Amino acid sequence: MNVTPFWLAGRAATGTETLAVTHPFDGREVAVVAVPTEAQVEEAVAAADAVRAEAAALPVHVRAEALTHISRRLAERAEEIARLITGENGKPLLWARAEVQRAVSVFRIAAEEARRAAPVVQRLDTDPGGQGRIAYTSRVPRGPVLGIAPFNFPLNLTAHKVAPAIAAGAPIVVKPAPATPLSALVLGELAAETALPAGMVSVLPVPNDRASALVDDPRLPVVSFTGSVPVGWAINDRVPRKHVTLELGGNAAAVVLADADLDWAASRIGLFSNYQAGQSCIAVQRVYVDRAVAEEFTPKLVEAVGGLVTGDPWDDATQVGPLVSVEAAERVEAWVDEAVAAGATVLTGGKRDGATYAPTVLADVPAGAKVLRQEVFGPVLAVQVVDGVDEAFALVNDSAFGLQAGVFTRSLDVAFRAHRELEVGGAVIGDVPSYRADQMPYGGVKDSGVGREGPAAAMADYTEERTLILTGLTL
Ligand code: SIN
Repeated sequence: MNVTPFWLAGRAATGTETLAVTHPFDGREVAVVAVPTEAQVEEAVAAADAVRAEAAALPVHVRAEALTHISRRLAERAEEIARLITGENGKPLLWARAEVQRAVSVFRIAAEEARRAAPVVQRLDTDPGGQGRIAYTSRVPRGPVLGIAPFNFPLNLTAHKVAPAIAAGAPIVVKPAPATPLSALVLGELAAETALPAGMVSVLPVPNDRASALVDDPRLPVVSFTGSVPVGWAINDRVPRKHVTLELGGNAAAVVLADADLDWAASRIGLFSNYQAGQSCIAVQRVYVDRAVAEEFTPKLVEAVGGLVTGDPWDDATQVGPLVSVEAAERVEAWVDEAVAAGATVLTGGKRDGATYAPTVLADVPAGAKVLRQEVFGPVLAVQVVDGVDEAFALVNDSAFGLQAGVFTRSLDVAFRAHRELEVGGAVIGDVPSYRADQMPYGGVKDSGVGREGPAAAMADYTEERTLILTGLTL
């Protein structure tokens, strides 16, 4: 099999080692990827550092044209890249194709944001002593970014690191997840087709046990991490003087109130607790349904989940494929078994076949069960009956996490109450918490992380304000 190169400061390179990428559904090897040596990692970081001033000074039209080029090339190569994602991650083509289209948008939005970003001018003669003075404040890159991406959206969550870096004028070194480097490497290839300085983008499939050297490297003052909760907070604690953004886990809740459209709620929750086999930080994991409609709603939900098309991710019709590995599916199985042993009832699902776990709905789950308290990251949903909005919101907030929540209601008052009271980064009204538009600020509170993604929000994280004060002016 040909070795897929990595992208070192704008050129394709191979090292002395490789890693095999396998397809989760059947364990077949889909690619062999070159792994950079320590000297090559050093070369990439040194190149990012060397180009930092040039990147910051790049005219906006150059950045925007590069972003537009990447967006266009992703669109042109959409089917090929979707197939890479399905191959490396196991997600059904349905979701892989959607992911590529989202990445097309992310680069387009970043180009728009690059053009929109403008300095702020303030008059200072609002107080004595400021007469004849103005402040001109623009944002300047903090420096090269280390982007660490996860396996669950291997293309689009890498796009959410690379695109804002280019838009902000910051070099970036990306470390994709070792299980899923292929689609991230395409971004390195497409960046190399642009007029950006060579050192501006490197994509290095470095093994996890070599990542801490990159985290510690003072030439990479920004770390943008998406991944697991313990690893994320360990990075934050390890480099307190760096600007660290963390997009971590969740146990997202959906609330179904008495005025909800129950058919819509059941079909949306059914699908979005199981999309990508539940491997999304905002997949629905907990459902709180009002007692007034619980009897009518719960069978609809079970039917929606039971009716999902599971199986081979290469089949166009498949909605739920395997998890990323057999080990991941075994962990989900162990958590469900533990909940059942403690009194939970399986309404549908509850079975594993290799890396595939059947879409599962649980009821009567004890409050302390892992499937409620921790992030399942699998196709498992726990339903609980509640008495009205007060109890529902209290239970949503009774979590170590706070990424997004969904509230099925038609009441505008309840919508604004959700925005005020739910301890999350985003509340979705009339739909599942699993809704993400790529231009929005996206991120969590509590253990779910710090900072926000979405091109505009990430550009703010990758930059800081710098002010020029002009004096002696006649205004
Ligand atoms: C995530 O898993 O946090 C990303 C969700 C998304 O981008 O849709």
